[in-house]
Amino acid sequence: MSQQKTIVVTGCSSGIGAHCARALKQDGWRVFATARRPDDLEALQADGLEAFYMDYREPDSIAALAEGVLERTGGSLDALYNNGAYSQAGAVEDLSTEALREQFEANFFGWHELTRRIIPVMRARGHGRIVQCSSILGLVPMRWRGAYNASKFALEALSVTMRMELAETDIHVSLIEPGPIESKIAVNALHHIERNIDIENSVHRKDYERELRRMRQGGVRSKHKLGPEAVYEALKHALESKKPKTHYVLTRPAKIATTLKRLLPAELLYRLLEKR
Ligand SMILES: NC(=O)c1ccc[n+]([C@@H]2O[C@H](COP(=O)([O-])OP(=O)(O)OC[C@H]3O[C@@H](n4cnc5c(N)ncnc54)[C@H](OP(=O)(O)O)[C@@H]3O)[C@@H](O)[C@H]2O)c1
Repeated sequence: MSQQKTIVVTGCSSGIGAHCARALKQDGWRVFATARRPDDLEALQADGLEAFYMDYREPDSIAALAEGVLERTGGSLDALYNNGAYSQAGAVEDLSTEALREQFEANFFGWHELTRRIIPVMRARGHGRIVQCSSILGLVPMRWRGAYNASKFALEALSVTMRMELAETDIHVSLIEPGPIESKIAVNALHHIERNIDIENSVHRKDYERELRRMRQGGVRSKHKLGPEAVYEALKHALESKKPKTHYVLTRPAKIATTLKRLLPAELLYRLLEKR
């Protein structure tokens, strides 16, 4: 009998993580799912997932997650899906360094810290899969998203480098690059913009007001928005295929953006993006 495969999935309270963690469980994986609020942890536990508290901004919680999972599995782990993140919206000139740093703690440094704790375990067993939920905004930037763009661009660079460095092993690193996906990302972003951006005194006040209205209604309204199942399909390929891809670009808008980036001179691409 083949042994049940094990995976850590982060950010499972809502959206993509909540869906993927449960879908993996249904598909026979043993899933260690992270969240932050007690009610979210209880809901995961109730659905048969092994829930752990973890906040990427808190190194101690990352260490406790890694140690707790490895204790339960007897020191092995087949896969890691870094997913938990948030979007700090706001024009670059309105961002404090502190808000930018916090965005990187949650979306970048914490991911690195957790991944570094897992790679030796995978090396010892000779195989593993690391999947990073990046974003189309990690490849093609968008106005008012400087902090988030930067965190995902940094993630792209680190992950592709890691993939090359692990090329001689059977440990594979993949990036998922979603465009608009149904989740709570826009609603959750509200708190960060309200807390960290001085909207009243910004030259961009009118843009923020329009943006806040849009975020309160659930974010990007696009007929091309997909459900989290689209991400799950890519994740499954990255986890189970003999040849996992480096990049999984999802949704039509994301595919158009990457094609334009490939085809257009940079100046023209940026002029187009300025209008978005
Ligand atoms: N939805 C999209 O359109 C889209 C597009 C491109 C990429 N993505 C990426 O998809 C991933 C999942 O996002 P989502 O769309 O599913 O959004 P979501 O519904 O807001 O879920 C985000 C998850 O990340 C967790 N999280 C936030 N800050 C965290 C931190 N400091 N430490 C640990 N976990 C944290 C949240 O937990 P709490 O509930 O406790 O805050 C939540 O479980 C993210 O990496 C995001 O960048 C999403």
